[in-house]
This record gives sequence, structure tokens and C-alpha cells, in this order.
Amino acid sequence: MRIDVLTIFPGILEGFLNGSIVRIAQEKRLLEVVLHDFRQFALDKHRTVDDKPFGGGPGMVLKPEPIFACLEALIAPDQPAPRMLLMSPCGSTLTQKRVRALSKDERIVILCGRYEGYDERIRLAWPFEEVSIGDYVLSGGEVPAMVLVDSIARLLPGVLGHDLSALQDSFEGPLLDHPHYTRPADFRGMQVPDVLLGGDHAKVASWRHSQALERTRLLRPDLLRGGPNEAPNAGQV
Ligand code: ADE
Repeated sequence: MRIDVLTIFPGILEGFLNGSIVRIAQEKRLLEVVLHDFRQFALDKHRTVDDKPFGGGPGMVLKPEPIFACLEALIAPDQPAPRMLLMSPCGSTLTQKRVRALSKDERIVILCGRYEGYDERIRLAWPFEEVSIGDYVLSGGEVPAMVLVDSIARLLPGVLGHDLSALQDSFEGPLLDHPHYTRPADFRGMQVPDVLLGGDHAKVASWRHSQALERTRLLRPDLLRGGPNEAPNAGQV
């Protein structure tokens, strides 16, 4: 998979790309993330990327020209169209289900906004799907883009040590993860539950399921009512 990220602050993402699961995915050649500073495509000598909104009002709006030029340099008309995602608090909220679907794409282009917003013609001319990471406003799309890239990278087959997707498929319902324990079996008087030490895989599975159910009931009862959000399901949460 290749992910192109358009941002005027590539430095925010650089450290992230060189660490964590995303670095592993890139080293294994399962993922390539390319940063594009669309300020480089600005037309004037000051490399202006924003301007005052027509009609007045506070803040600045991202101009269309640098973003159009950057996208046109990136997307060849004769190649399959990439999925195009625009990070914005106006988008539909990211869920694990959506991340799983995105992890099957060959190529994704992510546009990170800043300031008060984007010139509307960016939305009108390009087939962007808007993605929000939650109902709160951040100062830009870079942090949401990192959230998105991380959540996709860990689902790419071969990135994690174990077959995460198989693990996910084995879950029946929208449950939070069960508790995890490792050595020592006795830590400051707190014991690991006996069932996990007994070696009976069926009993372990049933204990984990009931714990996951209990945890979900306690922490996220909305998930059991079949709300719009889906539990992360697999992995440590
Ligand atoms: N940009 C600013 N806030 C955002 C959010 N909550 N999700 C995605 N992009 C954003």
C-alpha cells in the first residue's frame, strides 16, 4: 500500500513515520508513506497557502491553487484513482470497520487541513471522502492523519507478529478486548486468574469472552446496543 500525505507541516509526521509500527511496515515493504509539502506548489514568491475568506469573518482559508497543483502532480489520469481522504471535523467519524476497509486499498491520498478550513472548490473538484477522528476540533489534520495511518498500518497482513485479522474474525460481537496478563503470576500479591494458568484452551476462551462482555457492559454499554461505533475488538486496548 502507498499513502501520500499532503501537509504544510511534514515535520509533524516525520518522527512518527520513523518509529512505531509504521516504520516496521515500511521496512517490510508493506507500506510506503510519502509526505508532500504543498507549500512548495504555491505560486508566489512568499509561498502563500492561505488567504482571508470572501465575505469576511475570522481566520484564514487554505487556497485552492497549491493543493490542486500538488494533487495534479501526484495523481496520473491514466492510473487507477486512489482513495482520497480529507481530514476534517466535518467528516464521518473513523471506526475500526472503516479502517479495516481502508487497509484493503492499494493507494490512499490524505489531505491535512489547517486554519479555518479549505476553499470549497477543493471539495467540489476532487472526490474526497471526509474523515473525522472525533467530535472535537484540532488545529490541523496532521494528528488525525497519523491516527489514520497507524490504525491502517497495523492491519496490513504481515506487519504485526501474529495474524491479527484472523483474530478479529473470530470475534462474534462488538466487544472490547479482554484483560491480559503476563509474568509474574503473583505480583505484589495480585494473582493471575487460575484459568489462565491451567492450560485448558476452551476454558480460557470462554473466560476471555465473559470478561470482554463484562468490560463492554461496564465501559461501553452503547456498543452492546448496536450503536454506530464498532469496538476495536482485537489487540490491546
Ligand atoms: N481537523 C481538525 N479537527 C479534526 C478532527 N476532529 N478530525 C479530523 N480532522 C480534523
